[in-house]
Amino acid sequence: MKKLVKNNVSWVGHIDWELESFHGDDYSIHNGSSQNAYLVQEEKTVLIDTVWKPHSNDFVANLKTEIDLKSIDYIIVNHGEVDHSGALPELLQEIPGTPIYCTANAVKSLTGQYHQPDWNFQVVKTGDSLDIGNGKKLVFVEMRMLHWPDSMATYLTEDNILFSNDAFGQHFAVKELFNDRADQCQLMAEAIKYYANILTPFSPLVKNKLKEIIGLNLPIDIIAPSHGAIWRDNPMQIVEKYQEWADNYQTDQITIIYDTMWNGTQKLAHLIAEALSEASPDTRVKVCNLAVSDKNDVVTEIFRSKAILVGSPTVSNDILSSVGGFLHFVREMKFKGKKAAAFGCYGWSGEGNKVLREILTNSGFDVIEDEVKCNWNPDDSFKSAAKALAEAITAQ
Ligand code: FEO
Repeated sequence: MKKLVKNNVSWVGHIDWELESFHGDDYSIHNGSSQNAYLVQEEKTVLIDTVWKPHSNDFVANLKTEIDLKSIDYIIVNHGEVDHSGALPELLQEIPGTPIYCTANAVKSLTGQYHQPDWNFQVVKTGDSLDIGNGKKLVFVEMRMLHWPDSMATYLTEDNILFSNDAFGQHFAVKELFNDRADQCQLMAEAIKYYANILTPFSPLVKNKLKEIIGLNLPIDIIAPSHGAIWRDNPMQIVEKYQEWADNYQTDQITIIYDTMWNGTQKLAHLIAEALSEASPDTRVKVCNLAVSDKNDVVTEIFRSKAILVGSPTVSNDILSSVGGFLHFVREMKFKGKKAAAFGCYGWSGEGNKVLREILTNSGFDVIEDEVKCNWNPDDSFKSAAKALAEAITAQ
């Protein structure tokens, strides 16, 4: 079960092929995931992170086949969320009193979740280090809000491994462990989905933290996150991607997002898509019907986009709950620097577009007043309205 990462460092985590969602149902999993834990066996034996509670029995049992648990000198908890700390209660029943190195905030989250204030917490902050023998040290770097207030990374000197926890991860099962062994298209698709849906709200902090990490001038041979592939081939490629993604990322893409009651708003969406392609032939146009789309995939499309057009019919003086619920999730992302517009059909009162504009404005989009608003069902005469909206949203 132990897999070699480098020298005396091994992976001892859990590959979760069956996982379908994460954070409740807030994050879809299409290609499995993993909870990566690591064992460092120098003069001191160190366990870095554990796994989610449902796998704690297997985790502890497997660890016992590799080492005498009593030989573990230190446990590092880079982050208290249950997918990484879930096996601590079972493990610490076997080795009570083992020192747990973590941030002050992690003490709060671990105590709040497991109600074990007597665990042997050793609070660390950025720059603190732990000598583990053979001339090697673990150096701690607080990663506040990447993505929780308690998050930190741990750097192993000499082997030059950054155990980054959630940062630089992907919800992606890679049995072969390493980025160079993974399907490259899937790897980068999962990495950008992970950033778009989990880290976007913290992008300003990500930018500053990346500068701080780069400023430390630490040689980095491997970035070992707590989910997905371990970056050993050109590990800085994912740091460079994060620098790009954290900087109000957008490409020449416009995404149309809608739901429909009797296909009128759907017809508008398709008319607008045609008009966008004519107005700006180089722009990639995507159309997402929320009724049949994965919400995390749609958020990733928004992340890639320079503008979005959101459509809903008016219903009960408001918008469809599918669109409202989705936009609530989008608001959490705190997107910046993206344009937006509204469209939709109505039968009687027609407040839908106004409601959409208000929500999009409150969510940080640069909303234009131009719209397509259709009483009842559109015919081809709405091509001209679609053209006008396409020209307005693609105008600089
Ligand atoms: Fe924030 Fe992978 O947990």
